[in-house]
Amino acid sequence: MNKSVVFKIDGVEVTATPGQTIMEAADEAGIYIPRLCDVEGLDPQGSCRLCTVKVNGRSVSSCTQPVVDGSEVENNTLEIQCYRRDLVRMLFHEGNHLCPICEASGNCELQAMGYRLGISKATKFPYLQPVRPVDASHPDILLDTNRCIHCGRCIRASASVDGKHVFGYIGRGIHRRVGVNAENLAKTDALLEDKAIASETCPVGCIIQKRNGFCTPVGKREFDHEPIGSSIENS
Ligand code: SF4
Ligand code: SF4
Ligand code: FES
Repeated sequence: MNKSVVFKIDGVEVTATPGQTIMEAADEAGIYIPRLCDVEGLDPQGSCRLCTVKVNGRSVSSCTQPVVDGSEVENNTLEIQCYRRDLVRMLFHEGNHLCPICEASGNCELQAMGYRLGISKATKFPYLQPVRPVDASHPDILLDTNRCIHCGRCIRASASVDGKHVFGYIGRGIHRRVGVNAENLAKTDALLEDKAIASETCPVGCIIQKRNGFCTPVGKREFDHEPIGSSIENS
């Protein structure tokens, strides 16, 4: 039988299974580590860096880093919170985010993360204001990558769960955006039933199910009453 791994997160002792990631072990212990590119059901990508923690003083992504017996993990320190705030601010500044008119508002993980991290005003980073084409060709789905945070969740879901490879990255560097494997979304085999289109897959308001926008009234949306991460902390 495999011996358990025992380590500490912010001084709290956590028991894990060998091979688990720090994030998986933290989740099971009811300790929330912020994340955006990671979501249950998809392999971790380790790209957003929001889940960065320090293990024995070294920065790592907790969604990909396996637990180490006897290690000391820092998660909720002032330094790490400042780092996470800057990452989230940069995501806001990289895209076009107008929350009051966005279908995802109240259910959006980026918006909820901003609230959780205490971001309440504009910062020094310049708004890049990208102008990316909106693809409304599909009868049931709209793709607006002006709000994309490049988490890759749609790409991984389409490839590994749906087996369709509908979504992928186009371009490089600052011009990189999510595109589809055809002239437009209507010419792909994307369906509403796909995991890539499911509301829990895109953390922001890029992949929109038509005729569903603003269906949930204010007050009943996912993050109207509890901050993001509460489901883990209250489990
Ligand atoms: S995607 Fe989220 S953060 Fe961006 S405008 Fe919509 S609600 Fe706001
Ligand atoms: S479209 Fe949504 S799920 Fe896909 S990479 Fe952008 S933010 Fe992530
Ligand atoms: S959640 Fe770990 S890098 Fe994005």
